[in-house]
Amino acid sequence: MRNKLYEWLIGDATDCCYRSSLDYFTENAVILDVGIGNGVMVKDYHAAIKKKRLQIIGLDINSTYLRQCQMLVEDYDLSDRIKLYQQAVEAFNPHQNGSFDFILFSMSFMLLKDQAAVLERVANWLRPQGEIVFFQTMFKHRNRFIEVLKPRLKNLTTIDFGKMTYDADFYDLLEKLHFSVQMDRCMKRTWYNGTYRIISARPSPPPVGPATHKDSAKTAQTRRAT
Ligand SMILES: C[S@@+](CC[C@H](N)C(=O)[O-])C[C@H]1O[C@@H](n2cnc3c(N)ncnc32)[C@H](O)[C@@H]1O
Repeated sequence: MRNKLYEWLIGDATDCCYRSSLDYFTENAVILDVGIGNGVMVKDYHAAIKKKRLQIIGLDINSTYLRQCQMLVEDYDLSDRIKLYQQAVEAFNPHQNGSFDFILFSMSFMLLKDQAAVLERVANWLRPQGEIVFFQTMFKHRNRFIEVLKPRLKNLTTIDFGKMTYDADFYDLLEKLHFSVQMDRCMKRTWYNGTYRIISARPSPPPVGPATHKDSAKTAQTRRAT
């Protein structure tokens, strides 16, 4: 029942996320999927995962979703490509730093209590040139109605929709932590003037010598909103 409700409520976003991110991932990439959920994307994208020879480590804290995900992984013969761990990203430790080409937050970033701490933590797990990919609903302007609605929806459906993601706060966070945006696409307009966006960012190498005002201006310039 919980899985069905979840598919009904966020199926469209899930589909949009995995279609766009699987397209973006390079062949043979090793990916950490933070909050992989019930793995419903496997039904539509198993062939793409095999064709690109992707290796996916899926993390989630929810055992019901993970059980469903594991069944789909086996049904679609992906056990050698997708490994699942029941663990919060805040507690997970990869075998070694520099393990992943991509770290994907598909509608899970807005659920994190301390987003900055998680970003700083996971940045160490990227290979050189690795990227963090975010898929999320974003809003330009403050929306009190949805701010009030979200916690109520959780009471009603048991699904946590997390906090609102506002463009300015999100880009400020990336800039503060010295991430440079590599790709930024609006995939779809959603309810209440929100947009599904896919954004990828990479930690900028520390500047040589004292940081200057120009350095942070450069990081900001790499934003490429479409
Ligand atoms: C909205 S669902 C998205 C699932 C899937 N990525 C998708 O696009 O359909 C968010 C998922 O993140 C998981 N999650 C929440 N907090 C987490 C954390 N700290 N570490 C790992 N997973 C987390 C939830 O259990 C849930 O399955």
